[in-house]
Amino acid sequence: MGTVNRCWRFAAYPDGMYKPSDFAWSEQALEPLRDGELRIRNLLLSLDPTNRAWGVPKDTYLPQLRIGDVMRGIALGIVIESRAAAFPVGTYVNGLLGWQEYCTARAGVDPVTAFERDPGLPLSAYFGLYGHIGYTAYFGLLEVGRPRAGETLVVSAAAGATGSLVGQIGRIKGCRVIGIAGGAEKCAWLREELGFDGVIDYKHESVPQGLDALCPDGIDVYYENVGGAILEAVLDRVNDRARIAMAGQIAVYNDPGQAGPRNLINIVLHRVRMEGFVVFDFLDDAAAVATATRELGEWYRAGRLRYRTHVVEGLEQASTAVNMLFTGENHGKLMVRIAEDPLGMD
Ligand SMILES: NC(=O)c1ccc[n+]([C@@H]2O[C@H](COP(=O)([O-])OP(=O)(O)OC[C@H]3O[C@@H](n4cnc5c(N)ncnc54)[C@H](OP(=O)(O)O)[C@@H]3O)[C@@H](O)[C@H]2O)c1
Repeated sequence: MGTVNRCWRFAAYPDGMYKPSDFAWSEQALEPLRDGELRIRNLLLSLDPTNRAWGVPKDTYLPQLRIGDVMRGIALGIVIESRAAAFPVGTYVNGLLGWQEYCTARAGVDPVTAFERDPGLPLSAYFGLYGHIGYTAYFGLLEVGRPRAGETLVVSAAAGATGSLVGQIGRIKGCRVIGIAGGAEKCAWLREELGFDGVIDYKHESVPQGLDALCPDGIDVYYENVGGAILEAVLDRVNDRARIAMAGQIAVYNDPGQAGPRNLINIVLHRVRMEGFVVFDFLDDAAAVATATRELGEWYRAGRLRYRTHVVEGLEQASTAVNMLFTGENHGKLMVRIAEDPLGMD
C-alpha cells in the first residue's frame, strides 16, 4: 500500500462546544496525482474560532460544511510532489488544506497560496505574525476601525492571537489602548510586556466599571472579537462617530441563539459605524498585502510588535484542542503541529 493520509472528518453539526463525536478519524491511501495537481505535506494546522462558526448547517462566508467532509482548516505545508508548474516541490504553501496529513490540491482552483519563508522566522510566525491572523488585525483595525492618533481604542479577546496584534498596532498608531482579557496572566502580559495603557480582566472585574475608569473620555474605536455583554458595555460608552470593527463574536459561536446587545440604539444616537469583515476580503489586493507584510515585519524586527504561539503536538489532538479557544486555555495563536518543518525552525 502507498502512503496513507490520516484526517479528521466532520461527523455531526455540534450543539454547543465541539464534542469528540462531532469528528471522525479516517485513513485512506493517497491516489496518484493528475495533471495540474500538487501534493502538500501539512505541517502546522491553525485552530480558529471560525472552525466552530463553520459548524452550522448553512452557508457562512464559505459554503456549508457537509457531514463526511475532511474538516476544513487553514494550514501551512510544503509541496512534496507536483504536476503543476507553479508549485514546484519544496514550495511552502498556506491555504484551506484541511485537518489532514496530506492535501491534494488543484493549482489555480483550490485556495492554496505559495509564500516565501523569511529565513529568520519559524514557520509558526506565518500564523502568529503574518498570514490570516496578522492580516485580520492589520486590515481590520486600519481599514475598518480607522484609528487616529490620540483616540481611545478598546479591543476584546485582547490577549489572543489577533487581539494582541490589534492593540499593539493601535499603540504604534498613537492610540490609547485598553484591552479586555480573561485572567491575571494574560492581563499582566498585555500591560507589562505589550505596553497596553489599561487592561480589564473580564473574568474577575466588572467590564462596565473598568471601561468607566479607563476610558473617561469615551471610546472612539472598538475592535470586536467577543459580542454579548462586552459589546453591550462598549456601546454604552461610544463617542460620536465611533467605529466598531466587527471581526468576530466568540461568545456566541457555541450559542447562536443568544440575545444580542439591548442598546443598539446607541449606534444611531452616536452615529457609529459598525462594520463586519472577513480577512479574505482584503487579500485580493496584492499591493496592500505586500505593504501589510512589510509593515508587520518591520514592526516585529523593531521590537514594536510581539506575538506568542501555543502549539499542540499531533493531528490527533485537533478535535479536542479546538475547544481551548472557547475556554481561554490558549496563550497565543493556537495551532497543531502535524509534522516537523523541514527547515527545523520551530
Ligand atoms: N473576521 C475575520 O476574518 C477573523 C479572522 C480571525 C479571527 N477572527 C475573530 O477574532 C476573534 C479572536 O480569534 P483568534 O483567532 O485571535 O483567537 P484567540 O483570541 O487567540 O483565542 C480566542 C480567545 O477568545 C477568548 N474568549 C473565548 N470565549 C470567550 C467569551 N465567552 N468571552 C470573552 N472572551 C472569550 C479567550 O481569551 P480569554 O482567556 O481572554 O477569555 C480565547 O483565548 C474571534 O472572534 C474570531 O472569530 C476573525
